[in-house]
Amino acid sequence: MTKPEKLAIHGGEPVTREPFPTGFLGPDEIGEPEIEAVTSVLRSKKVFRFLDHENSWCTRLESNFRTLTGREYALAVGGGTAALVSAFAGVGVGEGDEVIIPGYTYIATAAAVLICGAVPVICEVDESLTMDAADVENKITPRTKAIVPVHMRGLPCDMDRLEPLARKHNLLLVEDVAQACGGSYKGRPLGSFGEAGCFSLQQYKVITAGEGGIVVTDSPEVFHRAALRHDSAMIYWQPQETKVKAFPGTNFRMNELEGALGCVQFDRLEGILARTRKAKRGIVEGLADIQGVRLAPVNCPEGDLGICAILLCETGEQAQWLAGALKAEGIPAGSIHDKQVPDRHIYCYWEYVMEKTSGDLHGRPWTSPLHDQTRQYTPDMCPQTLDVLGRSIHIEITQRYEQKHVDWIVQAVRKVASALA
Ligand SMILES: Cc1ncc(COP(=O)(O)O)c(C=O)c1O
Repeated sequence: MTKPEKLAIHGGEPVTREPFPTGFLGPDEIGEPEIEAVTSVLRSKKVFRFLDHENSWCTRLESNFRTLTGREYALAVGGGTAALVSAFAGVGVGEGDEVIIPGYTYIATAAAVLICGAVPVICEVDESLTMDAADVENKITPRTKAIVPVHMRGLPCDMDRLEPLARKHNLLLVEDVAQACGGSYKGRPLGSFGEAGCFSLQQYKVITAGEGGIVVTDSPEVFHRAALRHDSAMIYWQPQETKVKAFPGTNFRMNELEGALGCVQFDRLEGILARTRKAKRGIVEGLADIQGVRLAPVNCPEGDLGICAILLCETGEQAQWLAGALKAEGIPAGSIHDKQVPDRHIYCYWEYVMEKTSGDLHGRPWTSPLHDQTRQYTPDMCPQTLDVLGRSIHIEITQRYEQKHVDWIVQAVRKVASALA
């Protein structure tokens, strides 16, 4: 029997000392085409999108997202949170409604629900790190209006269970696709399920517009309501197209600089994902028979963006140790729930939800008589979520990974996992 290699965490030689490529995806690709497109907007001195609707970059970006998702309508907005707020207004989520969201999503998902006057109801995630359909059903009350599957880190939710569940209980389904642009589930694009899909185009996403978001839907009514919510003057820009009675909106408009950057980045999406998926396939194949740790289940491996690999340990303590050991080997890995770091992607760190605080002096929407005043939020209310996240290790994957990076990850995981086994 060969002697196990001494781990780097114990003073041994690390698998690699070479830094991995940065964690950014689309932003790392920014080059001459982006500079040219954005500069052309500046040269034109037309940064407002509704000056020339037909030739607008924002209009083109919307068309790209219609093609990507197969939806009838797309609306470019200022960010992913703005996309969620506009979509909720579009489908009619408001005061008195409850919206079920997973305990593992960015705090913005909860914020968008609250901004609309509704309250979030937090459900468990399972080992796929996405909404646990069984727990969604447990959390339905007479006030439940919508569910929001969130495809975290490019990992598709179990839409085979969530879509029929929404239909069975007559609930609206709004997808949060902020982290999964270009993903699919069993051949259907993410963003094409339910009433509406919402994307984000900020720095940390697969492609970027600087800041930006997109709402997609098949319903003209949802589209027009979302459009009104995104711009209080929408009826004046496109009066002939608005079929919904006007109501006040906010300025969530995208500008042409963002539209131009977003369009060039959109053309890079397929290439980025082909490379991340190739790297992920290499990691999955290399770790197929691993002992001591396992890869987290993925609801639809073909539709996964391949931007991360998740390892699952038996216990949280093992995960903390393994993450440290992998880092020492030179691998970009970290435990998902490190109790020292208040990560706003985990529900127990959403202070304004846990403490039911609000920017409104009367405490709305929490204090609204239309809401269930007995509903409480506690940091331990979703124990399964905390357990799964505590046992999970996140390994970053980018389009810049070469075969050597894949090999180092496989080699390092095998090396440290054998110590666990
Ligand atoms: C899951 C999720 N939802 C919503 C958002 C909000 O997007 P934005 O930051 O563009 O408002 C983000 C990202 O920031 C996110 O990761």
